[in-house]
Amino acid sequence: MINIFLMQDICDVCPEKLPNYEAKIKNFFEEHLHTDEEIRYCLEGSGYFDVRDQNDQWIRIAVKKGGMIVLPAGMYHRFTLDTDNYIKAMRLFVGEPVWTPYNRPHDHLPARKEYVDRIINRGGNQAVEAR
Ligand code: LAC
Ligand code: NI
Repeated sequence: MINIFLMQDICDVCPEKLPNYEAKIKNFFEEHLHTDEEIRYCLEGSGYFDVRDQNDQWIRIAVKKGGMIVLPAGMYHRFTLDTDNYIKAMRLFVGEPVWTPYNRPHDHLPARKEYVDRIINRGGNQAVEAR
């Protein structure tokens, strides 16, 4: 049997309910990565997750009520509200939660190296794949 320890909490992003709102909004929009997956389920409202593609260009992902997003560990990203200025999101975490953002550049972290190897370089170079 495998036991998966799943943690969750609710993050209400609006000036009235989120302590230190301005500072947090600013931090969300700083490009960063985490050493674990970022899993968000949108309960109310909406917002944008910007993620870097394989060529380091931004892709904007609109998240709306009922939408869920899972960002792999080591992927650079940022978050912003849209013009409605409100999101209520469930934060999910596999294991004991670590929410630490590492602002770019943090390329020396093992989680970043693994991400680059697994997603950007797809686990090896072409010669290895061709064999
Ligand atoms: C976070 C999102 C906003 O780290 O990227 O909570
Ligand atoms: Ni994040």
